[in-house]
Amino acid sequence: MSTTPAASVLVVDDEEGVRSFLAEALELSGYDVAEAEDGQAALEALSRRSFHVLITDLTMPRVDGMTLLRRVRADQPELEIIVLTAHGTIETAVAAIKLGAFDFLQKPLESPGELRRLVARAVERRRLRALQEITRGDAGEPTLSYGDPAMQPVVRALEKVARTDATVLLIGESGTGKEVAAQAVHRWSARASGPFVAINCAALSESLLESELFGHEKGAFTGAQARRRGRLELADGGTFFLDEVGELKPGLQAKLLRVLQERRFERVGGNQTVSADVRWVAATNRDLEAMIARGEFRQDLYHRLAVFPVHLPPLRERPADILPLARALLVRVGAQLGRAGLELAPEAHELLLRAPWSGNIRELANTLERAAILSDDRVLRAEHILVTPGRPRPLARTPSPAAAPGSRLSPRPPPRRRWPRPSARPSGPRSTTSAATGARPPSTSASACARCTRSSSATASRERIVRDEGAAAPRARRV
Ligand SMILES: Nc1ncnc2c1ncn2[C@@H]1O[C@H](COP(=O)(O)OP(=O)(O)OP(=O)(O)O)[C@@H](O)[C@H]1O
Ligand SMILES: [Mg+2]
Repeated sequence: MSTTPAASVLVVDDEEGVRSFLAEALELSGYDVAEAEDGQAALEALSRRSFHVLITDLTMPRVDGMTLLRRVRADQPELEIIVLTAHGTIETAVAAIKLGAFDFLQKPLESPGELRRLVARAVERRRLRALQEITRGDAGEPTLSYGDPAMQPVVRALEKVARTDATVLLIGESGTGKEVAAQAVHRWSARASGPFVAINCAALSESLLESELFGHEKGAFTGAQARRRGRLELADGGTFFLDEVGELKPGLQAKLLRVLQERRFERVGGNQTVSADVRWVAATNRDLEAMIARGEFRQDLYHRLAVFPVHLPPLRERPADILPLARALLVRVGAQLGRAGLELAPEAHELLLRAPWSGNIRELANTLERAAILSDDRVLRAEHILVTPGRPRPLARTPSPAAAPGSRLSPRPPPRRRWPRPSARPSGPRSTTSAATGARPPSTSASACARCTRSSSATASRERIVRDEGAAAPRARRV
């Protein structure tokens, strides 16, 4: 079921009659309309929430239309602006368009038809611009899986949940493709033409994270020279990806809980309530349930986030995906290095299939990049494939596969872990949701994640020698 909100329009005019005529005509067409009596009131409304289209008169008390236009252009470039001009003032309309207005309407309006057509075009332009931003530089969306049976229920669950506005919690070891999965949920959702905005809770200090999330008012702290909108506001109408949510400090956990409950928040240093319509996707490689037991993660926040938990299996549990993924990654590596047509020799296949991949797809990508650098020609042979030594970590309640510690490779691929069938899962509200969609219940998935925290720090230092190609991954709008 599509849950796309109606496009929102802010109508600004000091003449009450004009305002209500415009507002009624647009409301009848299904728009979500708000009114402001002058430029100052409009700026206040815009600081409280985002709109898709702004229709503004030019001559108004306090802040006039041109000033409003300039301020909005600087602060909210994605907003489409239509100006209202009196007959015979075409020069002003032209000046407004030069300043970035989408179009103009002449007063008095003969009929609402022209207004509706223009607003529909503005909404469409905004949608297309967002779409262009998503696809820019994106030579093809990554394929989540190439048919490995362990991934089929995962992909099905993601496709199903994408069509709703339910909050998704992606659980998986480092490098399993959680961010790629979050982008897929966004792309497959009714919000695809809206922004995809991500924030990494591990990458920023607590205070910086708070101001990045919620924005800040001018003077909120030393260096806050102007009001700044937070990433949540920038994600309005789209998807907000909260990465590494297990790293959130207790103070921010409480603030985030409030946003998830009330869908409202205040900017740092401000008391004005701001709202943003976002779909939440969170990701973690931590065992959140163990963190709850240790008092490190709020249970109420966990339940808000884990409405729809999806576990991404480690690469070693999806061997049928390894070679097709490697080929797809080689295309990317080739493009980055300016060496198209890279391919793997048959004996290199064998190595890739047998490696433990404790750093998962990220490690596979790094290994291929290294191989391409080492190889002087198009074909990457076994001697170029330097797999990080390490043993595959055992899975929850699964004995560790035989692999000599420190050996170059595990002697054979680790045993496959089958997901429990829905009927084998305990009953209860959470497991019911998961069973219905193929997602794994949080308790099972989280326990499998306890080890990834340890191993990811181990692989992190090894992987520092090669560039993290996360930045080159196709992404929508990463602010
Ligand atoms: N299906 C896929 N096809 C191609 N590349 C992929 C795929 N999944 C993941 N990758 C690549 O693997 C790397 C890791 O993916 P991603 O950042 O999504 O993983 P993650 O689980 O978020 O990792 P971390 O926990 O380390 O942040 C990225 O470079 C990404 O582009
Ligand atoms: Mg990630």
